[in-house]
Amino acid sequence: MPFIIAIDGPAASGKGTIARALAAELGFHHLDTGLLYRATGAKGGDPVAAARGLTAADLARDDLRSAAAGQAASRIAAIPEVRAALVAFQHCFAAQDPGAVLDGRDIGTVIYPGAEVKLYVTASDAVRAARRAAELGADPDQMLAELRERDLRDSQRDVAPLRPAEDAVVLDTSTLSIEEAVARALAEVRRVRAG
Ligand code: DC
Repeated sequence: MPFIIAIDGPAASGKGTIARALAAELGFHHLDTGLLYRATGAKGGDPVAAARGLTAADLARDDLRSAAAGQAASRIAAIPEVRAALVAFQHCFAAQDPGAVLDGRDIGTVIYPGAEVKLYVTASDAVRAARRAAELGADPDQMLAELRERDLRDSQRDVAPLRPAEDAVVLDTSTLSIEEAVARALAEVRRVRAG
């Protein structure tokens, strides 16, 4: 059985960076599940049909990183049929040896509740807004409002809301460098693997 690492958390918490670094270090596959929702939202039209018909070309669009694409993703992600349409893709992806790192909002709670390692990565609102503003070349105050709106919607929806799994290890990256955050995540993986 492949080894699954589930990483959840709010926008710009550092979960994507940590997920990529863990996958590279361990030789695991990495899936940024936010991309599935971003690509679905960006297709326009009926979101359920868009999610069911998602192609590799949809995932390769270069406009998926924008704040607008993030908001559209957050809106369609509240539709249960959209989420259901994306489950099989996530399970197929994660079935690859030797293991996979998936990052998103509901990996440890819904997609892989039995994941070997579960991390919930978070950071203060101000730190997350500053990071995202630097990344996108945008205004930090505008980013703060955008992130708060999205996190509120993602955590208050009825289906698969953003929240830490009961057995997740919480990693607050507010005052950590990328290297420190990755080292802590890796230490948790090694602890479980040694286990
Ligand atoms: O991780 P991200 O910022 O790229 O995600 C964009 C949106 O997609 C996020 O605001 C909510 C949704 N999403 C989700 O509902 N479940 C996931 N596993 C990943 C993302």
